[in-house]
This record gives sequence, structure tokens and C-alpha cells, in this order.
Amino acid sequence: MCLLIKNGIVIDPARNIKKNCDVLTENAKIASVGESLESPDAEIIDAAGKIVMPGIVDMHVHLREPGFEAKETIQTGTFAALRGGVTSVACMPNTNPVADNASVINFILNRAKEAGNARVYPVGAITKNSEGKLLSEIAELKDAGAAAISDDGRPVNSAGVMRRAMQYASMLDLPVISHCENLDLAGEGVMHEGAVSTALGLKGIPASAEEVMVARDIILAEETGCRLHIAHVSTARSIQLVREAKARGVNVTAEVAPHHFTLTHEAVKGYNTFTKVNPPLREAKDVEAVKEGLADGTIDVIATDHAPHTMEEKDVEYDLAPFGIAGVETAAGLIWNELVKPGILNVEDAVAKITLNPARILGICAGTLVPGMPADIIAIEPNKEWEVDPEFFAGRSKNTPFAGKKLTGKVLITILNGIMVYKH
Ligand code: DOR
Ligand code: ZN
Repeated sequence: MCLLIKNGIVIDPARNIKKNCDVLTENAKIASVGESLESPDAEIIDAAGKIVMPGIVDMHVHLREPGFEAKETIQTGTFAALRGGVTSVACMPNTNPVADNASVINFILNRAKEAGNARVYPVGAITKNSEGKLLSEIAELKDAGAAAISDDGRPVNSAGVMRRAMQYASMLDLPVISHCENLDLAGEGVMHEGAVSTALGLKGIPASAEEVMVARDIILAEETGCRLHIAHVSTARSIQLVREAKARGVNVTAEVAPHHFTLTHEAVKGYNTFTKVNPPLREAKDVEAVKEGLADGTIDVIATDHAPHTMEEKDVEYDLAPFGIAGVETAAGLIWNELVKPGILNVEDAVAKITLNPARILGICAGTLVPGMPADIIAIEPNKEWEVDPEFFAGRSKNTPFAGKKLTGKVLITILNGIMVYKH
């Protein structure tokens, strides 16, 4: 089966391609990218005026299975991903049981295969049960198929444990994805510590709770030589720390989630628990710093931190609600609306941060349209206006602070393995 996608604005950061041309797939692979391609038996897709790019690689997703199937399953989460243009996800290990051993990794891979939706790359836990105490069998996790290690959802609070994890990861060439949060500083906080938390009477999480851990992990990565990836950076100083570390040659990369370049702590006024997320929504100066960090290349990746929770769990007092925003179905729209349309990122850089860069960090075969690669392709209509309506989410949970938000930029088509699996 062949697809011929005609006359799109084709973007492939791996080869610096941005031109009006065609993409041909054959046997589930990219066959060629070029002008006036022809193929007598191919199904033709007219993509005039649409961005044609590699499927999105979302390196920070919580699929919740095993253990929290009421929030999401591998089937629903990967199906929702396809609707958001996401064809590959890395899923975080904070399931029940935690993905700290080969059998959980195997379970996830098997379920993902059964689902047959977006490709799934499991992230193994750094420590047993993500308790921050005893290291997991990191080599076993890698052999089973873990693409990275992380205790995401929680920090590795002990610097000694993190240092040893980094030494193993460095030997095995696995990236360490760090959830940077100092628990002493974060305390019982439920939102960013600042003027808004004071006005609302909610306990705050200071910016320093994130920043001291970013600084610590950069120092440890510098010492151990491990590949460090900082998850969901949210503050100006965190970004400055990454910028300085990169300048002195530390092997560090960083990601930001769409809510951290779209919203500030002002959104918490009204106590909507869908704004409760960890790290929390920060100040306007932090949002500005995130945009600068994206523009100057300090932030390599945009990843959703898709964190589905049920209505019942979120429909409680702000203090009691779980942290998390469901993100896979709104990411592309937010990136276009908030970054590409206002000219903060050019389209090539925006595409690189959601395709090539995360694929390189994870070392996976995805994120480019180079011939021979899996035919995972999406088409985005850059000027299409739409309104976020969580009722139409395919994911099991609807916890988004963006309901009713008007966005410009919509995923129209998702192709996985050379098959059109979603069409708007
Ligand atoms: O908001 C968050 N939700 N942040 C995390 O680090 C974990 C995640 C979750 O698992 O719900
Ligand atoms: Zn996290």
C-alpha cells in the first residue's frame, strides 16, 4: 500500500527541508520526498497549503496502565495521541506496579502492540517503586526496551542515589530524565509561590524547589558524563542554568510543556483544579523566559506531560486534587497558536522540537522523513481555527484548563506506518 501526499509544505528538520513538494510512502516506509512525484497505484492525498511533517514524538506522557485504568489506558492514551498528531510516545513509569523491572516494561510493550496506535517507548524507573532509595536493575530495564530512566512524578531526592543512577546510565548510554523538585522546598505546596498563592490562600511551591535540583543534576551530569534531560522546566532560572551548562559543554537537554508557555499562575484564580499541575504554572517573567529558551535553543523539546486524571479526582478542593493536565490532544494547536503564529519559533524549529530532537534524545527510529524511515507523517492546517472541547477528546480524561480556548493550527491527518489512522 502506497500513499502519495501531494503539494504540502514539507518540513523535515533532519535534512533542513522546507519546501513545497510531495511525500511518497511504500510498504509502511518513507519512499521519497521531492517534487512532482508519481506512483500509479498510490492513494493520493492533496495537502496543498498544509504543513506535512514527521509524526510528533511526545517524550513525556503518562499512559497510566498498569494500575490506573480509570484515568487512561495504553489503548485510549495512544489513540488520543494519534488524534493529536502524536505517533510516538515515551511513557512514564509511575504506574502501579511501577515500571521498575523488565516484566512491567514487557507488559507495556505488549499492550501497546495490541493497541496498534502510537508507538510506545517505555521509560523505566530509576529506583525501585520510584521511592528514591534502591536503584532499579537499570541494565535489565534497557534490555527489556526502556528508552530512558526517570522517577518522574517524583524527584530522586538523594543526590547520592541520583549520582549512582547517572553512572550506570552513562555506562549504558541511557538518558536520565529528571523531574526536578526539592521536596523540602515544595512542601505541601499546591501552586506557584507568589502573589497569587498569597491572595488565594493556597500553599506555594517556590521556584527554587525546581531550580536547586536543576543545578544539582547538571553538576552530577557534568561529573558522571551521563546524558541528562530535564523534564518540564518551568522557571526563568532553571532555563538560565541549562543555558549556562550547555555553554560549558554539559550533556544536558531540556523540555517544556505547552501549559508552561501558555498560562501563568493567574489562571489558578477561580480555583479550577484543571490548572493544578506539577511543576506549577509560574509567573509572566517565567513564561517569557520559556519562550526565549525555546527561541535560542536552550529548550530542545516540547513534550506534553500528558497527565490524565478522572473528573471525580479533580472535582474536589484545590488542595486535594491531583496534579496534572491531559495534553496530547491540544499540544499541536497550542504550539502553533502560542509559538508559531506570533513568530516566537519558526515552523522548522517548532517541528524539530516535537520530532527530531526528542527522537534523537531517546535514540529511536522516528521524527524524520528520511527515506527508509517508518512512514509516520502528519498534516497540519496552520490557519485552521478551532475551539478546544474536551467532550470530543478521545482520551479517557478531560482535565484540561484550555476548554473553550480558540486555537489556530489543527492536525488534519495522521499517518502511522503508511496508513491513514486519523482524518479530521
Ligand atoms: O502534574 C503532574 N502530573 N506532574 C507530574 O510530575 C506527575 C504527573 C502525574 O503523574 O499525574
Ligand atoms: Zn514530572
